Amino acid sequence: MSEKQRVSRRQFLNYTLTGVGGFMAAGMLAPMVRFAIDPVLKPSAAGEFMSVASVDEITNEPQRFEWMVDQVDAWYESEVQKTAWVYRTKEDELVALSPICTHLGCTVDWGSNEEYPDQFYCPCHGGRYTKDGVNVPGTPPTAPLPTFEMKVEEGMLYLGLEKER
Ligand code: FES
Repeated sequence: MSEKQRVSRRQFLNYTLTGVGGFMAAGMLAPMVRFAIDPVLKPSAAGEFMSVASVDEITNEPQRFEWMVDQVDAWYESEVQKTAWVYRTKEDELVALSPICTHLGCTVDWGSNEEYPDQFYCPCHGGRYTKDGVNVPGTPPTAPLPTFEMKVEEGMLYLGLEKER
């Protein structure tokens, strides 16, 4: 009888430890799986066109516009802020550039470097881009700033997904 009890306690301990171990392993694996599939989930997250600004507000000087998009990562839904630098060219075309530096992902500013007032400047490693978003040779970024898909409807500018160039 006592032998039987000892075995059953051991079994109980085994089940308990296996359960706790499994729970901890799942806790560690879940974020890894999430990060592995995150890039796959991103395109559907921000695919809609969102109203960003009235076309009348857009000048020849790049301005920063912000808007919110719903983002769904597997079971987690959140609102994410998006930002674009938007301006009108001399030919009256609208341009919307991503502010995310193509070097290591810092945020670029327009005209914040006194030496280069007509360029986008990344404060992290001194990256620079011309007004059309093309990376300046000799600075760290090796690719231009992405542009946004855009459309104009009833006087409003709508932006969609970012496009690499
Ligand atoms: S992150 Fe912009 S220059 Fe490095």
